[in-house]
Amino acid sequence: MSDVNPISQETVQEAVALALAACEAAQNLSELKAAKTQHTGEQSALAKLNSLMREVPKELKAETGKLMGQARGRVESAYAQREAVLAKQEAEARLRAETVDVTATAPRRAVGARHPLAQLMEEISDIFIAMGWEVAEGPELEHEWYNFDALGFDPDHPARAEADTFYVSPTDAHLLLRTHTSPVQVRALLDRELPLYVVAPGRVYRTDELDATHTPVFHQIEGIAIDRGLTMAHLKGTLEHFARRMFGEEARIRLRPNFFPFTEPSAEMDVWFPNARGGARWIEWGGCGMVDPNELLAVGLDPNEYQGFAFGMGIERTLQFRNNINDMRDMVEGDVRFNAQFGGLI
Ligand code: DAH
Repeated sequence: MSDVNPISQETVQEAVALALAACEAAQNLSELKAAKTQHTGEQSALAKLNSLMREVPKELKAETGKLMGQARGRVESAYAQREAVLAKQEAEARLRAETVDVTATAPRRAVGARHPLAQLMEEISDIFIAMGWEVAEGPELEHEWYNFDALGFDPDHPARAEADTFYVSPTDAHLLLRTHTSPVQVRALLDRELPLYVVAPGRVYRTDELDATHTPVFHQIEGIAIDRGLTMAHLKGTLEHFARRMFGEEARIRLRPNFFPFTEPSAEMDVWFPNARGGARWIEWGGCGMVDPNELLAVGLDPNEYQGFAFGMGIERTLQFRNNINDMRDMVEGDVRFNAQFGGLI
């Protein structure tokens, strides 16, 4: 029976139907690839049928060949179409997933915050700038003459002792880390034209242990005014204005007699602080006085022609009572969360 056809139409249709069903069922390109291998690859039903072509009787070859060709053609074009559809879907999904919203606001990460001491020094300087004063700076590594001698400290004054002052070796160079901002008074007197109205904020050093109320590195702001005819009334008026700008209109100033080598008379200055914790009260705020005629003589000025006043206060201390900060160490540690409470985020 050489004319029996081993490739029946039904078997071919069945193989085609299975291949097309698998093609439709594939949900992505990799499933489609697997289905294609299974239904059109070497081991597939269609490939096996094709290999039977050799056994097809001659007179049926053309017809069967056509049947097989159509079957392969239908399957191949179905897979090609499906592949195009799935490839497009996958490309779109990838684009959606990778979409960048260029209008979205980026998460804002603060890089730091200005230190409240820096802000306070600026705030105080601004109060004086508004009155026409100038801001001066002096070196932190200072000569003993500016820090002590020119300011009238006796050679054996206790403040000069190594127990209080950081000297820089070699000691015969007479260099030290300035213990107050008052040497800037002397530098301003030597450098600037008269009349002179200058504030000098800056860092100072003393050999104190770090604790809740002391730090060996701290800040002061110094003020000096030299003009013709200045009196203690000018000093008091200036400081009272300063206190009101800082602490509100109810703030007051009180002067108590004291001694400083570079002022005569000298006074301790208290401020009536309306917002003190536990109620309004007097708080010791700084030192002040009329510039000692000897200091004017030391820089070559005639005390009969020019007079002046000066004052100085600690910035840490001011911040501590103004903002109710219990422990001064918080100001030293540099934790940005502490700084951020005072604004000035950058
Ligand atoms: N220099 C002084 C200190 O560190 C503070 C001071 C007192 C400054 C009186 C002055 C002043 O200008 O007149 O304790």
